[in-house]
Amino acid sequence: MDSIVIKDLTYQYPTAEVPTLKNVSLTVKKGELCAIVGANGSGKTTLCNAIRGFVPIFYKGDISGEVLVNGKNVQEEELGTTAMDVGFVFQNPFTQISGVAPTVFDELAYGLCNMGIEPDEIRKRVEEIMKLTKTEEFRDRDPYQLSGGQQQRVALAAVLVMGQDIFVIDEPTSQLDPQSTDDIFEIIKLMKSMGKTIVLVEHKMEQVAEYADQVVVMDEGRIVMEGTPKEVFANPKCREYHTRLPQCTQIALELQEQGIDLDSIPVTVDEMIQMLQEKRKN
Ligand SMILES: Nc1ncnc2c1ncn2[C@@H]1O[C@H](COP(=O)(O)OP(=O)(O)O)[C@@H](O)[C@H]1O
Ligand SMILES: [Mg+2]
Repeated sequence: MDSIVIKDLTYQYPTAEVPTLKNVSLTVKKGELCAIVGANGSGKTTLCNAIRGFVPIFYKGDISGEVLVNGKNVQEEELGTTAMDVGFVFQNPFTQISGVAPTVFDELAYGLCNMGIEPDEIRKRVEEIMKLTKTEEFRDRDPYQLSGGQQQRVALAAVLVMGQDIFVIDEPTSQLDPQSTDDIFEIIKLMKSMGKTIVLVEHKMEQVAEYADQVVVMDEGRIVMEGTPKEVFANPKCREYHTRLPQCTQIALELQEQGIDLDSIPVTVDEMIQMLQEKRKN
């Protein structure tokens, strides 16, 4: 079963002169992590908002094509209904805190309370998610007093606790340091192991190469490349789209340009090590 199916989607904001999304088609299978990469302004966030149903219901504008989430056309749903199926996490952790909960525990319980779930069940689910996401160490703290990285972990925990199967995560680490980035990817790895379907917009290509099943490159509103991390990053065409490459891929391509013969282009550090070891043997 496919979790998200986008068919020939073209969308233009009301104030824009040209479409921001052009003939975008994309399928994300259940349990798959699809990474969306591409230059600033290429339409990644707009695509996330199309999956959310905010484009066009909230932003208005002209749209053609279809977005199906769990088989339902999001443009035919009422605004907010898609949120029952999809959890969203955005770039700025600060804006995702509800502002009504005095502690992290209450923040995680907030959405479940609104759904009218029994207090015992809420406590059980919040405790479990806090343990899994390692947020229990700040359970009694004010969410606003946490660091950006800690707030983003709480934001991820707060969507995870709601129990949806599909997540759209837009540049969760762009404001975070390397350690906090690793912490966030630990949670993303956990989500994957739980069988969640994830659409992730991310500029950190080392992590994309490690965790993504499918990579989609956007350029000026179009999908210009798609495939496994290896198919995309090892293809020299990738460099035309202002997309960074994983460092080891960059190094391997430079070695190749210097005339050093490589059997394959690595996209993760493990692959690089393996390739060098085999080269030494031969
Ligand atoms: N609310 C809006 N109204 C009009 N144009 C917008 C709006 N939001 C984004 N855009 C334009 O759409 C294009 C794609 O933006 P965006 O989806 O945010 O790209 P990305 O997330 O890849 O940086 C940009 O040219 C941007 O200026
Ligand atoms: Mg964006």
